[in-house]
Amino acid sequence: MAGQDEITSHYAIEGLLDRMLGSLGVSDRSPGSLPAASLRAVDEFHINGAEATERLIPELRVAPGGRVLDLGSGVGGPARHVAEATAAEVTGIELTPVFRDVAEALSVIAGLDGRTRFVLGSATELPFDAGSFDAAMLFHVGMNIADKAAVMAEAARVLRPGGRFVVYEVMRLGEGQPAFPVPWASGPGASFLETPLTYRRLAEAAGFEVIALESRAEAAKAFFARMRAALEAAKAEGRPQPPGLGSLLGAEAPAKIANMIAALADGVIAPVELILERAATDPAPA
Ligand SMILES: C[S@@+](CC[C@H](N)C(=O)[O-])C[C@H]1O[C@@H](n2cnc3c(N)ncnc32)[C@H](O)[C@@H]1O
Repeated sequence: MAGQDEITSHYAIEGLLDRMLGSLGVSDRSPGSLPAASLRAVDEFHINGAEATERLIPELRVAPGGRVLDLGSGVGGPARHVAEATAAEVTGIELTPVFRDVAEALSVIAGLDGRTRFVLGSATELPFDAGSFDAAMLFHVGMNIADKAAVMAEAARVLRPGGRFVVYEVMRLGEGQPAFPVPWASGPGASFLETPLTYRRLAEAAGFEVIALESRAEAAKAFFARMRAALEAAKAEGRPQPPGLGSLLGAEAPAKIANMIAALADGVIAPVELILERAATDPAPA
């Protein structure tokens, strides 16, 4: 897959679990010792964090005991959030080994290891049977994947007829590229931004119906403004910085965030929600 080593080394962070728990001041790692909600400031690796997940959970249309697939599950925050909010069983598939391992460890500490599992692999080639999930999600992963047609085809294959695919991605809205590094890539070799129109075309070609498509640019700007105000207030009052995504962003975190905010302000990128539904019946055999 294009840029795979570049992607996994971009995300590989030494001592990630220690850094994340340290930023929360957590020392007890015993199973079930920490509510999943107390990890949300540090384990939801996308714009608008837990708030964005909260907003999209109802779009999954999943019932208790349902099976949800999280493509590019990172350190497992969104998967745990969905598992808790819906009582579904969530499987994450994740390319970066360190993230998969941290996702497993955090689910044990949060007492959710019975309801989440994390598999190493690629969203472009899913090791799951056809029709084996009721819903699927893809949050801030497509920008690392050149072959988005494969992701759409694989999501359609593993969903049951009528299943929802909830996509929340940083997409390209204007000409040009963001300056690098950005949170998802150290350089252009790992960044594959596409337009909402392309996502829509590829989804429809894979057999999805588009239920909704909405830019969240303004919500993202408000999110970054709040983040900045909280950091400045803490600094002015001599308090420690509030916990955030610093551990996940790793080296050059301030430059990654600044470049992303600049590209958002310039209208080059925006996070976009795309709600898809697989046809309610399987196509008749040819
Ligand atoms: C910005 S993080 C988002 C993680 C998670 N979805 C979240 O919102 O917290 C992007 C993640 O996608 C993963 N990723 C990139 N390409 C992938 C692929 N082809 N298959 C599976 N995961 C992939 C990365 O390793 C990383 O964990």
